[in-house]
Amino acid sequence: MCGIIGILGKHDVAADLVDSLKRLEYRGYDSAGIATLDNGVLERRRAAGKLRNLENVLREQPLPGASGIGHTRWATHGKPTEDNAHPHATDRVALVHNGIIENFRELRAELADEGVRFESETDTEVVVRLVSRELERGHPPVRAVANVLPRLRGAFALGFLFAGEDDLLIGARHGAPLALGFGDGEMFLGSDALALAPFTDDLLYLDEGDYAVITRAGAEIYDAAGFQVARQRQRLAPGAFVADKGNYRHFMVKEIWEQPEVVGRTVAHYLDASANRFQFPELGAIDFANLQRLTICACGTAYLAGYVARYWFERLARLPVDIDVASEFRYREAPMTPGGLALFISQSGETADTLASLRYARSQGQSILSVVNVTTSTIARESDAVAPTFAGPEIGVASTKAFTCQLSVLLSLAVYAGRQRGVLSEAEEARIADLMMGLPGQFSEALKLEHDIEQMSRDLSRARDVLYLGRGPAFPLALEGALKLKEISYIHAEGYAAGELKHGPIALVDEDMPVIVIAPRDELMDKTVSNIQEVAARGGRIILIGDGDAVRQTGLDNVAALTMPDIDPVVAPIVYAAPIQLLAYHVAVFMGKDVDQPRNLAKSVTVE
Ligand code: AGP
Repeated sequence: MCGIIGILGKHDVAADLVDSLKRLEYRGYDSAGIATLDNGVLERRRAAGKLRNLENVLREQPLPGASGIGHTRWATHGKPTEDNAHPHATDRVALVHNGIIENFRELRAELADEGVRFESETDTEVVVRLVSRELERGHPPVRAVANVLPRLRGAFALGFLFAGEDDLLIGARHGAPLALGFGDGEMFLGSDALALAPFTDDLLYLDEGDYAVITRAGAEIYDAAGFQVARQRQRLAPGAFVADKGNYRHFMVKEIWEQPEVVGRTVAHYLDASANRFQFPELGAIDFANLQRLTICACGTAYLAGYVARYWFERLARLPVDIDVASEFRYREAPMTPGGLALFISQSGETADTLASLRYARSQGQSILSVVNVTTSTIARESDAVAPTFAGPEIGVASTKAFTCQLSVLLSLAVYAGRQRGVLSEAEEARIADLMMGLPGQFSEALKLEHDIEQMSRDLSRARDVLYLGRGPAFPLALEGALKLKEISYIHAEGYAAGELKHGPIALVDEDMPVIVIAPRDELMDKTVSNIQEVAARGGRIILIGDGDAVRQTGLDNVAALTMPDIDPVVAPIVYAAPIQLLAYHVAVFMGKDVDQPRNLAKSVTVE
C-alpha cells in the first residue's frame, strides 16, 4: 500500500517529507519520490528501491522549497522503476496517489487521442494529466480537481501541488484513508496519523468522497457533491504512535515480545476484574441473546483469528457461525436474514475486501460489529459498534500482536455472548476470566522457547515444503503458522486439519518434509497423537508443539519438541501463537529475508 505526505511549511520541507515517508515504510513499497515548489516551479526527485536511494539523489541534487508532497509507492500498475515512481507531474501540477484508478485505461485512451504522450505506465499519471488539461482550459486548481474527481472510479487518496501556488495543497479521499494535520502556520496531509506524528497531533480525517483545499491558514473541506462541510478534528493520544524498534533487530520480533503487555492490556479493557466477568459497553444496542447466526469475515491472519473464534462462539455461546474470507464473501451474494450480526476483523481497518464485505452485510440488514486496531479507520467508522484491540501500532507486515489481541477480544466476546444467551454459567465465565488474566504470564513462559526455536530454525530453513497440522482451534493456528512462514521466509507451507492427513496430504510426507504439529492438551489429543504416529511411520520429520507430556504420549523418541507451559484448552490458541510466530521469524532471519517488509506484501491491502 502506498504512502502519501504533503507539507505547507515555514522552511525547506524536503528532509521532513523524507522523514515522514520513513514512518510509512511499514506499509510496504518499492520506489519513492518528492516534489517541491522552488520559486513557484515544480521540481521532483524520485528513485526506485528503498528511501536511502532517494536520499542519495537528494544529497546530489538538493530540493529547496517550503511546499511539497512525497510518496512511497507499492507497485500496482507498472514496474517499480523511477519513471513509475510518484509524484507524477506536468509543468503545472504534481500528484501523489494511494490506491487504484480502475477506469484509467479509458481515460488514458481519451488523453492519447488528444495527443498526450505518457512518461509512465501508471494510472496516476492519467489523473495528473486530466487535471493539467483542466488547468490549460483556464480553470483554477480547485475547479480543475473538482472537475476530474467525478470521472475517477476505484479506491484512491490523492495529494496535489500546483505550480505557482506555494500556499495550496489539495487532498482527495475516495476509498483510501487521508488525514489533515494542523500546525502553527503550517499544514500537513498524510495517509495516516503515523505520517503526521512528527509534525502534529491535531488531526482531521477526510470522509469518503471529500476533498480538501489546504493553505497554511487551514483547510476548507468539500463533500462529493461539492458542498462545504465540517469534519471533526481530533487529538492523537500522547505517545499513541511510538514506532521505533528499540533494541530489537526487527519490528516483528519487538511486536512478538510486546504480546504479554498488549494482550494483558486488551483483556483488562474487557474484563471487570472485581466482578470477574466480561463487559462490552461498546456494543450499544447489539445483543447476542436472540441472535440466530453470526457472520464473521476478514482477510489473512485476521480471518484466521475469526476462524479460531468460530470454535469459541459455537462452544461457549452455542451460536452458529458462518465465516468466510472477505475476498470471497463480498461476491458470494450470501442470503442474510435481516437483523443478524456481522463481525469484521481487521488490524488496519482499511482492508478493501473486508470493507466491501462490511458494506454488503450492511445492505443485507445486518448489524455491524468490528474488531480493529485502528479506531479511526474506515471499517471502524462504518461499523455500528467497535471492539478495539489495544495492540498499539503494528509495523511489521506479518501480523503478530494484533492477531493475539484479536483472539483476546474474540474470546471475551464469545464468553459475553454465552452469558447473554443464558448458556454459559457464571462459574464458567469466572473460570475463563481467571485464565485470561493469566495470559501475560503464560505468554512470557512461551516466549522463553525462543532460544530452542532459533536452534530449530536453521534446519527448518533448508526445507522446500513444510506441513502444519492441528485439530479444533489448533487447525486455524496451523493455517496461521503456515501463513507466517511463507509470507516472511518464502518457503512453501501448508496448514491442514490433522484429521484430514489420511485424505491426501500424507502422500507428501517423507524424510524431507518437516511436519509441525500444534497439539495443546485437549480432548482431541489422543487423535492428534495418532496422526503424529502416522507421520512418524512414514519417516516424517516431526516438530511437536505441546506441553511437557505430549512427547511421552506419542511414544516416539525422534520427535523434536517445543515444550509449552500447561495451558487450559480454552485459552491455548492464544498462547500457542507465540511459538509459531517465533519459528517463522527465526527461519526468515536465518535466511536473510526482509522480515519487516517481505517482498510483494503490504501492511494493509487497501486495493482489491
Ligand atoms: C498477516 O501476517 C498478513 N500481513 C495479512 O494476511 C493481513 O492479516 C491481512 O492483509 C489483513 O489485514 P488487516 O488485519 O489489516 O485487515
